[in-house]
Amino acid sequence: MEDETMILDAVRDVVARNVAPRAAAIDEAAEFPWDIKEVFASADLFAIPIPAEYGGLGGSFLTYVKVVEEVAKACASSALMIAVQELGALPVLLAGDEQQKQRYLPKLASGAWLAAYALTEAGSGSDAAGSMRCRARRDGDSWVLDGTKIWITQGSVADLITVFAITDPEKGSGGISAFVVEKGNPGLHVGKVEKKMGIRGSPTVELVFDGCRIPAQNLLGAQGEGFHLAMQVLDRSRPGIAAQALGIAEGALSYSTGYLKERVAFGKPLAQQQGLQFMLAELRTEVEAARLLLYEAARKCDEGAPDVTLWAAMAKLKCGDVAMRVTTDAVQFLGGFGYSCEYPVERMMRDAKITQIYEGTQQIQRIVIARSMVGRG
Ligand code: CAA
Repeated sequence: MEDETMILDAVRDVVARNVAPRAAAIDEAAEFPWDIKEVFASADLFAIPIPAEYGGLGGSFLTYVKVVEEVAKACASSALMIAVQELGALPVLLAGDEQQKQRYLPKLASGAWLAAYALTEAGSGSDAAGSMRCRARRDGDSWVLDGTKIWITQGSVADLITVFAITDPEKGSGGISAFVVEKGNPGLHVGKVEKKMGIRGSPTVELVFDGCRIPAQNLLGAQGEGFHLAMQVLDRSRPGIAAQALGIAEGALSYSTGYLKERVAFGKPLAQQQGLQFMLAELRTEVEAARLLLYEAARKCDEGAPDVTLWAAMAKLKCGDVAMRVTTDAVQFLGGFGYSCEYPVERMMRDAKITQIYEGTQQIQRIVIARSMVGRG
């Protein structure tokens, strides 16, 4: 707990000094903020969830989500950098052999390397297993990957990419395997770069694997275990996105509350108008409810609880919806100013939207939650 307090104090300092002043410019430029990446690396923020024996700080999952939340209060793109490093490290943490862990985790912990997670394809977003087309075939001491992944967060800047591909087509989701591919590997190309509504400082790209030959030892976990691994990773990464959403909501609520206290209309501050007070009260309650759900999901991850799938989905669902509601109302609170790019709330509203879409849409979270109650059917 003492460690967590120290880490969060340091994060608040980094956010105030380095992140908040850059947030609008990062959004405007729509470029990956390498300066922020260096600041995070120096502050050891990538190291938090990685065990000490692999160069990390061995922090709790709860601390990690609180860090993402703090950063997201100011800049969702910067927060995503930390969340995606975790997403990219998780496949190695969960399924890597000792050699793979020794090779990759220290580089990810130090921030020397960035990571990405390549599951989604043009025809397989929500139906991640059923419509996958990317193939991997064994050829002597190599695997050869062919296919195209899309919407890959940090795909163009990542040094390490976990790729999911079909190795045994007749086996359905049991025929998918996971591989690590390093930047610069022949046959790996960055394709289309998406122009996006929000999280504009985080590059989202197409990755093309064209006869991409990787060593046989780059198989992650057992052949055919890739989809299980993909799902296990998402169970532990969805709370990171929930934390990003919660942070965005808190940032927007804090900014707009300050505005309502200052702005005078009809002879008194807007904050003294009961209609707006009722809105504020509801939003605050929603934010706190979302936070409790998220922290409980994070505790479940720390404990390795058997119902982590359910809790991660509930946290992502609640926090994403709260982020969208709060940021939309924050724009409303500021009226015309809220609609202007000179104020941060329109950026926060644009950034919030993705938290209802990626790492499983809100509809997928509902499916996951309902299946935990009534089975798959
Ligand atoms: N943990 C471990 N194994 C799991 C699991 C879990 N949480 N969920 C399912 N599985 C296993 C099942 O047990 C089953 O295994 P067996 O066949 O051995 O029994 C296998 O996986 C297939 O399960 P289902 O039949 O339930 O799979 P499904 O095809 O119905 O799909 C789904 C389930 C939940 C809808 C899943 O496809 C899903 O989560 N879809 C959303 C994908 C997603 O979240 N994509 C995000 C991309 S990453 C991203 O967005 C990152 C970013 O940009 C920042």
